[in-house]
Amino acid sequence: MDLRLWIFLAFKVLGASSEVRQFFLKQASGQDCQTLQLGESWISQSPITCQRECMSRYSENCQSVVYNSQTGNCTPGSIAFGPIFYVTTSIPETGPSETLYYMRQPIPPCNTSNNFSLYDVCGTSGCLYLSTSEANYTDARTICSQMNSRLFVGNTMAKFSLFWYTSKTYMKVTTYIGLGDNDVEGKYVWENGEPLSSEQYQYVWFHRQPDNYLGDQDCAIAQHANWPTRFGLDDAFCYQGFHYVCERCEGC
Ligand SMILES: *[C@@H]1O[C@H](CO)[C@@H](O)[C@H](O)[C@H]1NC(C)=O
Ligand SMILES: *[C@@H]1O[C@H](CO)[C@@H](O)[C@H](O)[C@H]1NC(C)=O
Ligand SMILES: *[C@@H]1O[C@H](CO)[C@@H](O)[C@H](O)[C@H]1NC(C)=O
Repeated sequence: MDLRLWIFLAFKVLGASSEVRQFFLKQASGQDCQTLQLGESWISQSPITCQRECMSRYSENCQSVVYNSQTGNCTPGSIAFGPIFYVTTSIPETGPSETLYYMRQPIPPCNTSNNFSLYDVCGTSGCLYLSTSEANYTDARTICSQMNSRLFVGNTMAKFSLFWYTSKTYMKVTTYIGLGDNDVEGKYVWENGEPLSSEQYQYVWFHRQPDNYLGDQDCAIAQHANWPTRFGLDDAFCYQGFHYVCERCEGC
């Protein structure tokens, strides 16, 4: 499916802010950008009401919908850079009257000093620094912080995909992401303090990981150097030096 259809939607954010964000609906083939079903389908009047309802039910985790123009069936989804072989909740192949739309997320401003730049995959963008040398986890965190940023927080499926895509495509080396269980063994927490959700737990780890090898592996890595075709994180010793990804964020 090469046909590309862009619909621009002005979307007023609820709450105190009167900021107007733009979302784009894009028809996509879903090859590299895999959809992950977020829940049961419902009936909607149009692709746009389907998308609005998905946003109100799943907020930022809603990043795609499959809409059936004959039945009005609306299936909510997230988006992930794939393929993720072992995830069983992928939305099945679409039929002739079903269309997959994915929603472009707002593009953040990017202060490009310290070699930060804007990266984009599957409609999600981030202002990132891809390290050119190795550091242990604590040093990597400090270096990011000194550049007014933090170790990458992949707290939605789409953001995790952005990390996976950039580190796999541009770095091709073993890379830290901002996720660890230093405080309480087994309780993984993102660098912004948010716990790893149980939904995310199911797909961000490679199978049988994290295994807390030798009882001392508390920091998450992508093993692109050793296993370039593997999808999913491993846990590693935090004192080991690896590459890392920093992201700009508000208030960093
Ligand atoms: C961009 O970042 C640099 C270094 O972190 C900072 O010195 C500068 O003031 C920032 N520029 C803007 C426009 O925020
Ligand atoms: C930014 O890139 C330049 C040129 O490649 C390099 O000399 C410099 O060390 C880089 N700075 C950082 C903070 O990585
Ligand atoms: C990280 O490396 C620094 C040296 O760059 C060292 O001082 C520090 O102890 C190391 N931290 C850990 C937790 O290994």
